[in-house]
Parts: sequence; C-alpha cells; structure tokens
Amino acid sequence: YYYYYNMQSIAFLLYIVVSATTYLAVFYMIPKIKKFTLNAGLYGKDINKKGTPEGEAQIPETLGIVPATVFIIFNMVGVLYSYKQHTTSHIAFEHCAGMLSICFIIFLGFCDDVFDLPWRYKILLPNLASLPILVAYEGVTHVVVPIFLRPYLGNYVSLGVLYYLYMMAVVTFCTNSINIYAGINGLEVTQSIIIACSILLYNLTELWLGQQQTFSHTISIQIILPYIFSTLGLYYYNKYPSQVFVGDTFCYWSGMVFATVGILGHFSKTLLLFFIPQIINFVYSLPQLMKIIPCPRHRLPFYNVETKKLEKVKTNLNLINLYLWIRGPLSEKDLCKELVILQILCTFLGFLIRYYGAHLLF
Ligand code: UD1
Ligand code: MG
Repeated sequence: YYYYYNMQSIAFLLYIVVSATTYLAVFYMIPKIKKFTLNAGLYGKDINKKGTPEGEAQIPETLGIVPATVFIIFNMVGVLYSYKQHTTSHIAFEHCAGMLSICFIIFLGFCDDVFDLPWRYKILLPNLASLPILVAYEGVTHVVVPIFLRPYLGNYVSLGVLYYLYMMAVVTFCTNSINIYAGINGLEVTQSIIIACSILLYNLTELWLGQQQTFSHTISIQIILPYIFSTLGLYYYNKYPSQVFVGDTFCYWSGMVFATVGILGHFSKTLLLFFIPQIINFVYSLPQLMKIIPCPRHRLPFYNVETKKLEKVKTNLNLINLYLWIRGPLSEKDLCKELVILQILCTFLGFLIRYYGAHLLF
C-alpha cells in the first residue's frame, strides 16, 4: 500500500520535471516567433501607455500560439499513455476528444486574431469547438438537487439534452470570461495561471482525500501541469511592460483547457468556484455586452500621463475599472498585482465553499 503511494509520488515528481521542459521550449521559441507575427501584421499598440514613447511601439500579438502548440505536442504523449492504460474504457476516447476540442479552439482563436471577429462570432466559436467533447461525453447527465429542494424534486434531476447545453455554456463562459477580463499587461496570463493552479490543487486534494474517479483526476493533472509550465514561459514576455501580447488564441485555449478538464473530470460546478472574479466581471459587464449601454472596442482605464497611473473610466463597466473606482488610481503594474491577489483570495473562498459550504447545500 505504502509502496504504491511512494511510486505514485515519484511518478508525480518525475512528471513535474518532464512538464517543465515546456517552459524552456516556450521561453526559447517566443523571441523567434514574435518576428513572424510582427511581419504578418499581427501586432497591437499598448493602449495604457498612450502619450509615452512605449505607447507608440508595435507589440507582437497572438503569441499564445507558442505555448498552445508546445502544449499540444507534449500532450500527444499523454494521450498515448492514457490509451495504453485504459484501452478498454471510454477514458482514452474522452481524453482524445478533449485534445481535439482544444486543437479546434486554438485554430478558431487564431482566426479571431487574424480576422478580428465581431462579438456575435466570438460567442459562437467556443460552441463549435466544444462539439468533440460533447460527442464523446459519456458521464452523468443528471444534477444533484440541493437539500432544501429534495422534498419536491427528489435527490437527482435528469437534465438529458439540457445537460449538453449546460456543458456548452460552461465552455463558452470559461473561454470568453477570461478574454473580457483583460486589457492591462499580464492580466490574461496571470489569472489563467491562478485558475490552473487552483484546478491542480483541487485534483491533488481529491486524490489525497481518496475520492472516487482517480482516473479523471490523474488525467486532469496530466493536462494541467504542462499548461502551467508552458504558460509561465509566455508570462515571462507578457508581464509588465509587455514585450508580446497573448491574443485571443491564448484566452480561448486557456478557457477550453479548463472547461475540458472540468467536464471530463466531472467537476464543472467546482470549476466555476475558481472563476469568481470572472463571474463578477461578466455580470458587471452584462449591460455593455447586451448593448444596453454602448460598448466601445476597448474598455480600458484612462492612463494619466502626469501621474503615470491608471484611473477608472465610469462608462467602462468591467472589474478593472470597478476595482480602480474602489481603490483609487494605481500604476498598471500594481493594478495587475492586486487583481492577482484578488484572484488568489477568491480561490481560497472557492475552496471554503467547496469543502465547507457545499455540505450545507448538498
Ligand atoms: C477584450 C475586451 C476589451 C479589452 C480587450 C483587451 C470586452 C467586451 N472586450 O476584447 O474591452 O480592451 O479585451 O485585450 O470586454 N491591449 C493593451 N494592453 C494589454 C493587452 C491588450 O493595450 O495589456 C490592447 C492591444 O492594443 C492589443 C489589443 O488590446 O492589440 C488586443 O485586444 P483583443 O484581445 O483583440 O480584444 P478583445 O478580446 O476583442
Ligand atoms: Mg482578447
């Protein structure tokens, strides 16, 4: 028994070391690839530095394709491993389908970066890319009913086809909610790394608690570790002051990775507990997303050239401006740092709800 667990931890440590090679690959490749994206006209102006020399620079865009590609290459080995391990079960098939969805969203995200698609198309893309997962999904299609509703509805409610719509909604939310919580250097990447670490921690906790579904938690870890390392490579170049921008490719890829492990690992509700700032940002943005209030192409704060700080813009309803409103003007670097701290605090809250609060409801 102990021998088994020792072997498990050695395998885990070994896997960490092997996944770390994706960091090196991304770190090495980005300076090379950024020249190509620049030449191809895929670049952006750093809007929060308007009025400064840096603000005029053309920053290479869409560099999310580098970690995404490295991640896919790395995971081919993972898929092969899961196929060898679980040939007789449905798990390897689901794992392949997950990878197909992730590949598909990388392609569609890249199209978005090249074509600069309008919002109605952006909402559609993740739905298309979720099809492989939906087709392969063989898990439950019922939801557990909260205790106070059980006298009326019973312990479970079968959702049937609606469950597939629910999964599509999870994919659409995960991808877009990261993309619309953006606009200051490093925020897209750091929020994604925190969410990924929360998922890793959750899977390790479940394994440690000896919960069921060991396979799905192992596969989640197998997918999320190379995600974290390859994204750390991107973070090096995207952190303030950004040398490269990540593009929508990155946001969609990240959201799809999280949705895939959440759905196939059967913890999609818990997954949403790691998205608390994104949920707040989404709800607060709704008036603008639904065009009740005009929505400009960019909803960024205002850069004050004199104080070198960002100030809230009243008409831009997102969490970045809400935070500046509460906290007062901040430099771009400090703002990103504090929003990351907020994300970490929300993860703690998420874990509290999952392990203490959920018992009261379910
Ligand atoms: C989403 C947001 C938009 C925000 C943008 C920033 C909604 C509905 N959309 O749009 O409000 O302005 O993300 O990514 O909320 N940029 C910077 N600094 C950064 C990151 C990006 O100036 O740190 C600018 C650059 O000009 C870059 C561009 O934003 O080229 C990328 O925008 P893109 O990701 O295409 O915007 P959306 O995802 O459509
Ligand atoms: Mg974007």
